[in-house]
Amino acid sequence: MSERDLQPGGREQWATKIGFMLAAMGSAVGLGNIWRFSYVAGENGGAAFLVLYIAIIALIGIPIMMAEFSIGRKAQSDAVGSFQKLAPGRPWVTAGFLGVASAFIILSFYGVVAGWTLKYFVSYLTGGLWSEPAEGYGGFFEGFIMSSAEPVVWQFLFMAITVGVVLMGIKKGIEKANLILMPTLAILLIIMSIYSLTLGGAQEGLSFLFAPDWSVLTEPGIYLAALGQAFFSLSLGMGALITYGSYLSSKERLPGATAGIASMDTVFAIVAGIMIFPAVFAFGIDPAAGPGLVFVILPSVFEAIPLGVVVGLAFFFLLAAAGLSSAISLLEVAVAYFIRKFGWTRKATALIIGGLIFLLGIPSSLSMGVMADFTIFGNVFMDAMEGLSDIFLPLGGLIIALFVGWGWKKAQSLEASDFGASAIGTIWLFLLRFVAPAAIAVVLVAQFY
Ligand code: PHE
Repeated sequence: MSERDLQPGGREQWATKIGFMLAAMGSAVGLGNIWRFSYVAGENGGAAFLVLYIAIIALIGIPIMMAEFSIGRKAQSDAVGSFQKLAPGRPWVTAGFLGVASAFIILSFYGVVAGWTLKYFVSYLTGGLWSEPAEGYGGFFEGFIMSSAEPVVWQFLFMAITVGVVLMGIKKGIEKANLILMPTLAILLIIMSIYSLTLGGAQEGLSFLFAPDWSVLTEPGIYLAALGQAFFSLSLGMGALITYGSYLSSKERLPGATAGIASMDTVFAIVAGIMIFPAVFAFGIDPAAGPGLVFVILPSVFEAIPLGVVVGLAFFFLLAAAGLSSAISLLEVAVAYFIRKFGWTRKATALIIGGLIFLLGIPSSLSMGVMADFTIFGNVFMDAMEGLSDIFLPLGGLIIALFVGWGWKKAQSLEASDFGASAIGTIWLFLLRFVAPAAIAVVLVAQFY
């Protein structure tokens, strides 16, 4: 155990702050920042959405992230166990069960999209995307996701890798790899943004992303979309960060780590936006085109870049790797719970839970093709699952905010979060007690009208 020591209870613990930061950032930075941020921002008008998104991160996301880390570190248990330990017999544990359910829901479709990135990586490796296919990049993507079995094969492959990592307990290795892979992805995103700005759509793209058209704020759907995306991107509201916080020793200072993770995650999303939207306008594509957006746009960008095939290969590899460290944290929420609850081995648990999540993801995998006619409230299966996560994560976050804000004594919360008796600690508690719960409640209740 060079990196981790065993705690008195025999649980693993990060010996170094960098280890914890890597795990948490690995969880936060993933497909959410690039694939999901760009398509959701594109569907919701761009700049005004971005402003709303950043406000939510600052006023709701960061305070709740602090709350999750505080709970996890204090309880030293998984998403469900933490509540049972800190508040035995109280209803707060609902947040933990919601979290385990969210892990199933989110990873089911996350594995599908991560499978798409694998397919694109391999296509850049073997020649399928070395030049524009006859049917165009859009046609290539559609042909792929509409085919009756192929997306499932890639989804299976990605889930098998995720399960393999969790079952062999080599998460630490993956997180270490992220020490190199994440900065590389960041550099690549920046280079691609610069190229994207030369493609002729710079002005339109940048004003779409940064010059707000406030009228979109009258669309009722934008609030849930921004809230759900903020929670999704920060890995918030489902206990992933409770679980990671539980591997943290009380020597660390939480506020600095939290601010670092949240701002890093947000910068990734914004740079991704600068990469995508100028290209969207340069190639005359509708920014509201939906979940296929990056898969249709980026190949055109790679074609315009010198050595684009190599860049494309590197990009989809790094994106899949970023997706993997997020998928691991999703699977870990459920696996950690079932190991403790039923006393199964890690191997068996990872296989069983990973297998179930794979099965749950199959209808999402097929929802643009053979199962396109199967809809839930008018949404294809994958959209329905994403919609569910938009509700479950904020709901979990609401309970977490109330638990630390009201369930704990003031002094207890301030101590658990390392804020102590500081002014900023008072602001944090205020946001946690009033602002975050009220805002989430209003947005969620508004859904029913
Ligand atoms: N934050 C991850 C991403 O942006 C997804 C995720 C959500 C991971 C919830 C864990 C928990 O890709």
